[in-house]
Amino acid sequence: MSVRLGVNIDHVATLRQARGEPYPSVVDAAHKSLSSGADQITIHLREDRRHIQDTDVEAVRLVTKKFGKPLNLEIGCHPEIVDIAIATEPDWICLVPENRQEQTTEGGLDLKSTEVFEKVRLTCQKLKENIKDLKISLFVEADEEILNKCSEIDCEAVEIHTGDFAKAYLNGEDTDSYINLFKASQKQCESLKIAHHAGHGLTGESVIPLVQNNLFIEYNIGHWIICQAVFDGLATVVSSLKESLIQK
Ligand code: PXP
Repeated sequence: MSVRLGVNIDHVATLRQARGEPYPSVVDAAHKSLSSGADQITIHLREDRRHIQDTDVEAVRLVTKKFGKPLNLEIGCHPEIVDIAIATEPDWICLVPENRQEQTTEGGLDLKSTEVFEKVRLTCQKLKENIKDLKISLFVEADEEILNKCSEIDCEAVEIHTGDFAKAYLNGEDTDSYINLFKASQKQCESLKIAHHAGHGLTGESVIPLVQNNLFIEYNIGHWIICQAVFDGLATVVSSLKESLIQK
């Protein structure tokens, strides 16, 4: 099975925002990721704008268009952010829960709550009415009742929250129960005709058992890629800077 990799570049913007400098550039990050084989770029425009900024969204959109690859825009259901999403016309929108206090997205949409369900349903309706050919994924837990709720909403995919699995893997715990959970969600999604994507907390190692079990057709990975890129690039940057300090 051929799987897609969505590279989430939010944390390039986190580094930039930490110093208020114009670098590192998310446009360059999108460019480098796509020219290195990424199948799509994922960015999350949060209501608190802690990393990706409004101007980044349009700039990254231009890069994905240039490469003919999808932009997957993650958003919460806030009207202001929904309007920006509509103006951007991404290929995919991933709806996520958003809580101002959280360090990162902490779990899937609670579609068992009637209030959340209605909010998500109406947001999807508005997005579909306003963006031609838009595809929507809902970020949810691998839970039977929640997946059934997803099938009542106009969406093409679910992105299963893999954060707890990834944490357990990192801690060396037994992850069989998660693999079985994802097998069940995959089967349910097949019968509901909803695509089965994965995201959150994954690393180069923890993604392997998911791939070996053919569990998902798309993986959205961010934090680990940017962290690993520091170490894969550090030696090159230090030696080249050292070189330029040598007076010729
Ligand atoms: N998918 C969703 C829905 C997310 O909210 C995030 C984090 O922004 C990711 C994937 C990427 O997660 P990570 O940065 O932990 O790889």
